[in-house]
Amino acid sequence: MSGILEGKSALITGGGGGIGRATALAFAREGARLAVADFNEQAARDTVALVNAAGGQAMTLAGDVTDSAAVQAMIASVVAAYGRVDCAFNNAGIAGFQVDAAGKRTHEWADESFDRMIGVNLKGVWLCMKHELPQMIAQGGGTIVNTGSIAGLVGLRTSSAYVAAKHGVLGLTKTAALEYAGDNIRVNAVCPGYIETNMTVDTMRRRGTEIMAQVPFGRMGRPEEIAEMVVWLSSDRASYVSGACYNVDGGYMAV
Ligand code: NAI
Repeated sequence: MSGILEGKSALITGGGGGIGRATALAFAREGARLAVADFNEQAARDTVALVNAAGGQAMTLAGDVTDSAAVQAMIASVVAAYGRVDCAFNNAGIAGFQVDAAGKRTHEWADESFDRMIGVNLKGVWLCMKHELPQMIAQGGGTIVNTGSIAGLVGLRTSSAYVAAKHGVLGLTKTAALEYAGDNIRVNAVCPGYIETNMTVDTMRRRGTEIMAQVPFGRMGRPEEIAEMVVWLSSDRASYVSGACYNVDGGYMAV
């Protein structure tokens, strides 16, 4: 039986980590040929090794999504290898503790921390779209899924610039969906709740009990549970879906 992404080529940023890695494995299972991009090259290689061991086809790309030339080169590499970029999953991101802002309220964030957070989590997504869209227009269509967050929908204490960036990602997603509908390009976002990855270890250690009390399912999500939504949004089964932001959050946003 063939998969729902059979014959498609895909680019996943942040593919060396939790959600990106799980999505790489799910894309490969569904028949896509992949490029796994990450600024941590060894982590991307490890994902590629897992994909190949599972019988998939993947290549490693190293690069920082805040570097426009590097992003352009990544997309050129995918086109050189596979001829096109059918599906892009713009997923690379960082958390507050990675910019020395853990537990800080809005006025306590350092200027540099704010800039780096916006640079990776918002401008990085825009740079990926900026370079993916011309290729998708030229090849006659494609799909983009951006990683938003529940932090793109509501405020979260001590996550000021993260929340601002993720709200921005949803704005970029909706705008691009309007602008490129006529080019046969669908643009959507997935909004994960609290997911078991490196990103949440620090927060869960500090505030895990308090946070889990707010999640109707009473547990964290697994990266594989986000991957299923990304696969579907990237597939032809979602052919009438664009500009949408799908929550995968154990019911968090229903409260
Ligand atoms: P993770 O830390 O496991 O994976 C993130 C990956 O992005 C890492 O491999 C990292 O090396 C890469 N990365 C970071 N900065 C980069 C850059 N400038 N250029 C290229 N690659 C870069 O974390 P996770 O949880 O898998 O995060 C993936 C996405 O999911 C992020 O956008 C995050 O904001 C989002 N998210 C995560 C949630 C969670 O609870 N884990 C909840 C909601 C959203």
